[in-house]
This record gives sequence, structure tokens and C-alpha cells, in this order.
Amino acid sequence: MSAVVQPRGATGQDGPKSRGASPEAFWEERVQRAAHPLAYPALRSARNRPVVRVPRIGVVVSDAALAREVLLDVEHFSKVGPGAPSDLWTPVLGQAVLLNMEGAEHAALRRALGPLFSPRAVRELVAADAADSADRLGSAVQVGSAVLVGAAGGAGVLPDLTRRLAAGQTVDLAAAVTAQAGAVICRMVGLPPTDDAVRSAMSAAQAITGMVRLHRHGLTRPQVARARLVLEQLTAPARAAYRAGDPATVPGRMRDLGLSEREAMGAVGAFVLTGTETIQSFVPRLVAIAHDTGWTGRLLADDAELRRRAVEEGLRVTVPTPAMLRSVRSDASVGGVPVAAGDRVVIATVNCCRASGGFDPDRQADPDVRHLWFGAGPHFCLGMPLALAQVDAVLDALSAAATDGRVPVVGRRRAARGVLVPAYRSLELTLEAA
Ligand code: HEM
Repeated sequence: MSAVVQPRGATGQDGPKSRGASPEAFWEERVQRAAHPLAYPALRSARNRPVVRVPRIGVVVSDAALAREVLLDVEHFSKVGPGAPSDLWTPVLGQAVLLNMEGAEHAALRRALGPLFSPRAVRELVAADAADSADRLGSAVQVGSAVLVGAAGGAGVLPDLTRRLAAGQTVDLAAAVTAQAGAVICRMVGLPPTDDAVRSAMSAAQAITGMVRLHRHGLTRPQVARARLVLEQLTAPARAAYRAGDPATVPGRMRDLGLSEREAMGAVGAFVLTGTETIQSFVPRLVAIAHDTGWTGRLLADDAELRRRAVEEGLRVTVPTPAMLRSVRSDASVGGVPVAAGDRVVIATVNCCRASGGFDPDRQADPDVRHLWFGAGPHFCLGMPLALAQVDAVLDALSAAATDGRVPVVGRRRAARGVLVPAYRSLELTLEAA
């Protein structure tokens, strides 16, 4: 489902201006509310208090420095326990899959997985898409409710994006990024990214994450059964690739790195659930924000430092993982608010990061906020290098099309409903004079 948004003029100012918000703030608010019509306003209503107890949700932390304190204090706060991510994911993924681990065992598994995210490994994973050019151009793939026109199942999706834009066609960036993220999952599970494989991988990931809601601490029994079934189907090829031990596949490489089959399958599941929707969410939102703030030309310019600042600032204002959950292990206090063992702490990352205002890559970065969108402490995002490489690959593809003083301009857009990570369902781009 999607929140249908009226087409706007090339400048995109009409809707937001009439409501007194900046275009960037207006559209971001739409995207957030379409995904979480109740939880998002509830979380935002806590934003002016550093720490506050919100009924049914938990102890909400909206201050970046306090959020960091909680994330680094592993003695009192854990991802395992009542109200923590373990409640959500252990029944689906099983024990010991990074997201529901702590301590020495967790650190050892992260170390073992580290080489999969080395700069070279990540480059290979992402470059495969760009290099594997489309011999099946013009195909149309249905993923959920989105149609990936000309996506060629993820293979060559980015070169295709460049070609179509440069040829003056209107492209759907959300669909292209979905196909790209699906192709990366396929490689993670050891499948060639055919149309069918990309479609099933994306539907599977979305079917599972779409069940999660902030006000519910876990999934219902039928939801767990469904999620396990979907995940089993998705990871079946990964199991086969692991057993075959082919080092050209990610599961085969996991075996080489010394992971047991159970650890490798758990890690594949964790990667699919954490690393798909975040990318699908972020890239179109970044491009939309750049359009809404007049930053597109600078984002796509041949200036690595300018791009880095714009991407970081985009991550700060979009916060693709809007909240992080912890369970209180033993009585403590957060910013003067007492918390008891078993309480749930909700780090409202979206409040912490957005407190310093709207998108402005020229702003001096606040050290407390910096990279908080990727977490802090022992659970800091393991996939950050892969995420940044995927973002870069899409920006390179857009940049390659933006020649002769033309830039991609946003046309019609729709926010996605019923998703865990707020996102555009579609974001149309056409090249126009800057
Ligand atoms: C823009 C994209 C992304 C954002 C904003 C993001 C954000 C985060 C955040 C905030 C956490 C910490 C959660 C917590 O402490 O509770 C996390 C953990 C994690 N992320 Fe990402 N992520 C992104 C992309 C990815 C990708 C592409 C992967 C690829 C596999 C990935 C894999 C992971 C894993 C495995 C963890 C768990 C680490 C652990 O528990 O030790 N992420 N991510």
C-alpha cells in the first residue's frame, strides 16, 4: 500500500509551502507518518524531554549524549531480555545471531564476520551489479507492489538507470534501489540475481520486517511461524552454498572463515533483515532531500568530500533505523530517570539526530550525534561499509547521467505504508537543466 501524493511542479514547493513547512521537512514527515501513523507521532511527542517514560512504549531517550551512554553501558543495558530485540528476533532467527547476543560470544562472532565487510569484499559485492550489465533490458519485475521497469532483476540495474535517465526517460529510483538491494541479498545467500530470485528475496525480507511494530514487544505466534517459513525458503540456497563451500559465495566464504553452519545461517538472516530496507529507505530519501533543498548538483558533483558530508547529513536527518531497543539488566538511571530490571529503553535515534535541525551539510557536526544513526558501542552497524558502498554506487549511476548541466529532478512520489523502515514506495526522476 502507499500514501498517494499529488504530482508537483519541478520545484516541488507547492504542497509544503501551503502548510508552512520546508519541502524537506514536509516530505520526510509524510514518509515517516505513512510507515508509522501512531508510533511516529508518539515517539516525536517525547522529543523535547531527554528521557521520559511513555506508556506501552517504554523509557524513551531523545538526547544523543544519553543515548550513547546507554548503548555503551553493557552492564545495565542489553539487546537480550524483555522488550529487547531478542524478544523479536530469537523466535524467528534462533539463538546467537548478533542482534540477540552480548559479551564475548558476540564479539567473537563479529570478529569472524569482519572480513566479509572489508573494503575489497564490499566493493566486489556491490560492483558485481554494476559490471554485470543488462543483457535482459526492458524486463519488468514486480516486487511487492512496486514494478521495477527495466530492472533486469537487479543485474545491471545501475547501468540501466544511467542509460534510461540519460535517454530522457522517467525512472523510478525507489524501484531501482529495491532491485539493487535485492541483488545484494541474492549474492549474500549465494543465488544469481535473476528476476525471480530478486523478487522473492525482497518480498521475503519485507514480509518479515513489515510485521514489527514499536508498541508490540514481540511477534504473535502465527507471525513467528510465517516469518520462519519465509526465512527458511530464503536461506535454503545459502545452506546449499555453505555446504558446497564455494568461496565465490558469501555462505561459502563464511565457512572458510570458520563459522559453523548454524552461525552462518543466522548471520545471513540477520544481514537480510538489517541490511535491505535501510538501503531501500535511505537512497531515495537522500535524493529527494537533495532535490528539496537545492543540493542535487553538489551531491552528484565530482567532489568526494562534499558528497561525504551530504550523505552523512542525509543519514542524520532520515535516520533509517529510527529507534534502538534495550532491556534493562539491573536497576539504574538514565538522565536522572530511574529504570528497573526488565524495563524497556527505546533510544529514539530519530529525535536525537534531528534535534539540530533540517538538512544542512555545511553545519558543524555535533560529536554526540555523529554516526549515531549507525548505533554506538558493541552493536555498531556491522554493515556500514556495505551500506556506504551501495549508496555510492547509486550516486555514481545518477552522476554518470547528469551531464551537460542537467540533474535528476524529482517528479511524482509516493510514501510506502505498512513498512518497518520509512521509505518512498516510488520516486520518479527525470533529467532537467540544473
Ligand atoms: C543506511 C543503512 C543502515 C543503517 C542506518 C543501519 C543502522 C544500524 C544500526 C543503528 C544498528 C545498531 C542497532 C542497535 O544497536 O540496536 C545496526 C546494526 C547492524 N547492522 Fe546496520 N544499518 C544500515 C545498513 C546495514 C547493511 C547494508 C547491513 C548489511 C548486512 C547491516 C548490518 C547490520 C548488522 C549485522 C547489525 C547488527 C550488529 C550487531 O548487533 O553486532 N546494516 N545497523
